[in-house]
Amino acid sequence: MSKEASNIDRSTLLGGLLGWFDDRFPLIETWDTHMGKYYAPKNFNFWYYFGVFSIVVLVIQIVTGIFLTMNYKPDGNLAFASVEYIMRDVSFGWLIRYMHSTGASFFFIVVYLHMFRALLYGSYKKPRELVWLVGMGIYLCLMAEAFFGYLLPWGQMSYWGAQVIISLFGAVPVIGDDLTLWIRGDYVVSDATLNRFFALHVIAIPLVLVGLVFLHIVALHAVGSNNPDGVEIKKLKDVDGKPLDGIPFHPYYTVKDFMGVIVFLMFFSVVMFYMPEMGGYFLEAPNFVPADPLVTPAHIAPVWYFTPYYAILRAVPDKLMGVIAMGAAVMIFCLLPWLDRSPVKSIRYKGPLFKIALSIFVVSFIGLGILGVLPPSPALTLLAQILAVIYFAFFLLMPVYTSLDSYKEVPERVTMPAH
Ligand code: HEM
Repeated sequence: MSKEASNIDRSTLLGGLLGWFDDRFPLIETWDTHMGKYYAPKNFNFWYYFGVFSIVVLVIQIVTGIFLTMNYKPDGNLAFASVEYIMRDVSFGWLIRYMHSTGASFFFIVVYLHMFRALLYGSYKKPRELVWLVGMGIYLCLMAEAFFGYLLPWGQMSYWGAQVIISLFGAVPVIGDDLTLWIRGDYVVSDATLNRFFALHVIAIPLVLVGLVFLHIVALHAVGSNNPDGVEIKKLKDVDGKPLDGIPFHPYYTVKDFMGVIVFLMFFSVVMFYMPEMGGYFLEAPNFVPADPLVTPAHIAPVWYFTPYYAILRAVPDKLMGVIAMGAAVMIFCLLPWLDRSPVKSIRYKGPLFKIALSIFVVSFIGLGILGVLPPSPALTLLAQILAVIYFAFFLLMPVYTSLDSYKEVPERVTMPAH
């Protein structure tokens, strides 16, 4: 940005300092591009809070993670006790740990709702395919981050959960056994495994995650945000080149998001202070027992956010096919931009077929999530198989039902009830 165009008052101390920096770094330009002159659609609703909530949880996880690392010991003989030490002896250690463990579950809650918003309003469709794909990269990193982190408290579920998931790689033909040995660094999950998972959890994955979130937002701001009407606001601009249906992100959405974040933190605090274990769903009972390689827990299940995929894995009788089905269930989301053939983006203007398909998909996803927590039985396995077929049908039949579906004419301008 040229100095004339910027409105810094260089006669004040702060203005002088800002001007000094701005002469050497595109400070004002960056602010304007992403905040002050980033025009966001004026009709954002409830669903548009979850992006900023994801950033808030990411920051919570990084900050609390740094403090946990100061007292945690990544050693098979010390890890469990070091977590107990954090909980009992470190000043506010219990708070830091509960923020981190509650944060892990809240991360998935907000990211699942954030992804669901994209399904509602077709935010994955052209021109936002890359925003979606980078989002999928974030989602994969998040799953890896949660999996590696879960081993660190070195409780029974940490140990046996890792044992089950790593042994899945044994299903790969020819190299399976060597692969599991390479991942574990030992013949069983051991201190070597704990050390490498610690390294991956504390630095490798967070680094990639933060990089991807940066790319996610840069990619989004290049094409502009979608909105509940799926109207491209860049198409209609005023004489100054500003979108007619856009408002500057700052101050309008910074203020709105600030209010949302306060409410979100209230929910977060209620869980963190009053129900950090969430009935065994956020912190599982067997994890209060130190890892014992000689005693397998009666029932091994992953944390709730992985259970839909775990149910799909168990629904397939063949181990290798189960692993492939589980991987495909996650990766198939990447194809959404090309599977959806509807000429409109938002569910507001889509026809009944998409609405029915999305509703059934949500039921199948939640149903699989519930089944993944329960111990298997023949009846439940059959139910999981049916739900898994529905899950995949939602994606694979999408080109057909979105082509056949009716749709309503999308208005030129975004719609907004007066208030
Ligand atoms: C750490 C995790 C994530 C963070 C911090 C994050 C952050 C954001 C932010 C701040 C926005 C703009 C505000 C909004 O539209 O809500 C956004 C938009 C978006 N995100 Fe994410 N995101 C994350 C994960 C994901 C994932 C996992 C996906 C999908 C796989 C995804 C897909 C999208 C899409 C499609 C948009 C554009 C939405 C629209 O314009 O309607 N994001 N993200």
